[in-house]
Amino acid sequence: SKATKVLSLSLCLAVSAVVSTMAQAKTFKVAVGDAAGGTQHELGKKFNEVLMEKTGGKHDAKLFMNGQLGSEQDTVNDAAIGTLDFSILAINNVTPFSPSVGALTLPYMIQSLDDAITLTQGPVGEQLVENTLRDAGVRIIGWAYSGFRVLTNSKHPVTTPADLKDVVVRVPKNEIMIDTYKAWGINATPMAWSETFTALQQGVVDGQDNPYITVYAMKFDEVQKYVTNLRYLFSIEPLIVSESVFQDQSAEDQAAILEAGKAATAHSAQFLRDQESKIKAELTEKGMVIADPADNEKEWIDLATSKVWPKYVDSIGGKDVLNNVLKSLGRDEI
Ligand code: MLT
Repeated sequence: SKATKVLSLSLCLAVSAVVSTMAQAKTFKVAVGDAAGGTQHELGKKFNEVLMEKTGGKHDAKLFMNGQLGSEQDTVNDAAIGTLDFSILAINNVTPFSPSVGALTLPYMIQSLDDAITLTQGPVGEQLVENTLRDAGVRIIGWAYSGFRVLTNSKHPVTTPADLKDVVVRVPKNEIMIDTYKAWGINATPMAWSETFTALQQGVVDGQDNPYITVYAMKFDEVQKYVTNLRYLFSIEPLIVSESVFQDQSAEDQAAILEAGKAATAHSAQFLRDQESKIKAELTEKGMVIADPADNEKEWIDLATSKVWPKYVDSIGGKDVLNNVLKSLGRDEI
């Protein structure tokens, strides 16, 4: 009968509507460079939670911790070509793909969490998001704030640049950081993050720098003893999405992704405020020996800023761009 036909047609439509919604439902893959327990993990967990909430459970994000999906720098390439959906990685591993991001990694540029928030969430950050989109094919949609990168090593206390002379220090493959250690008198060893724990364990390198929360999450206290409270680089860790994957999403889903990124960013700042000093105390309990740089870090600051800044003014976009960054931080222009 006609009634049966209508009924079966509408059933068909209903089923296909369900099937098509199901087909769109997606578990996004998120590469995470660090181990569980750090700021990257926190950012990723919050992102997933809010994404599920905003999409009514349709989409979620699965985190692949510990560099399982490749080195941090490789994940930028994978996201650019769309074989990876998201990655959470340190900003210094984005700079090689989009040199203007170097504005955030010039030694002693960012002097506090407030500075980091001002730069990433204000007009400077917006410009950097545009630049990375243009240069690297990835869109930054969130930021984790991890605190200053402190220097750790297994040999002896370090308080002056001269103390570094017999310490082999691993750095990311990042020119600004390599040059900063050069300014301090040593040739650091560039190495992928995913190889760093083993290299420290086997004594291929003696030291490295990363924030307290990262040192703790990575269990570096098992292979490192001495900590120097350097403040040359405040670690910021963006959440990036493949632009081609982002463009494949509906407008609604894009909005959900962006909102989840924002919520995760706010959560990350709070996590740092709550956790950093607790973790520092715990690392001391585990036997790490913590020292401040001599003379209020003056020699470290003078060497790094006088030798490194002039070299990178052009790559971050010129003197005007640099001054713009300084101005937004309320600092003197150069
Ligand atoms: C690095 O040292 O390569 C990064 O800072 C590691 C990280 O993502 O925590």
